[in-house]
Amino acid sequence: MKGVVFTSFLEMVESQFTADMVDDIIDDCDLPSCGAYTAVGTYPHEEMVDLVVALSKRSGIAIPDLLRAYGQHLFAHFFSTHPSFFANVHDALSFLAGIEVIIHAEVLKLYPDAQLPRFETEHHSPQRLVLLYHSSRHFEDLAEGLIAGCIMHFGEKIELHRETVENQGQRQERFILTRT
Ligand code: HEM
Repeated sequence: MKGVVFTSFLEMVESQFTADMVDDIIDDCDLPSCGAYTAVGTYPHEEMVDLVVALSKRSGIAIPDLLRAYGQHLFAHFFSTHPSFFANVHDALSFLAGIEVIIHAEVLKLYPDAQLPRFETEHHSPQRLVLLYHSSRHFEDLAEGLIAGCIMHFGEKIELHRETVENQGQRQERFILTRT
């Protein structure tokens, strides 16, 4: 997993909890990286899972809630670091419909070793977008937070519904976004 995902996570922990909390959760985990992340480095995604589990234990906040909050923070971070991705896109559904073929495709050019999820667009109209999330890393709560962050960013009234789908023995998450 790219270092930017870790540095942005620790930034959120510092701003929403404390700098001591950052040190404490790093100390709680036996991390191969020792918690020394650089934005362009690549680290095992299991380290992110360990850090979130440690934060959950110390804060008493459930892991899915932490990942959703982190997704919202990460979306705001991406907006400030990649403003060009937002040029000429004026609504959340159009932005999200382009996540696979535009946004993450560009991310892959910048970071060829990025391990990105796959988003399959099952339906896209001005009123409704249905995305199926595929990833062996199962960061669906993070995906939900990123989608919620995107909706907040564009300031639109969109209802977000999520359902679990079984496909050939694999669990997948479907995100259904409907304008209200
Ligand atoms: C400007 C916007 C965005 C940028 C620059 C961006 C970039 C990235 C990068 C660099 C990673 C890390 C890849 C790695 O760890 O190797 C990542 C992961 C991820 N991105 Fe995006 N992303 C953006 C928006 C979004 C949005 C809106 C969603 C949700 C629809 C999303 C869903 C995810 C998820 C869930 C992961 C975690 C990896 C996984 O699930 O397997 N991203 N993204």
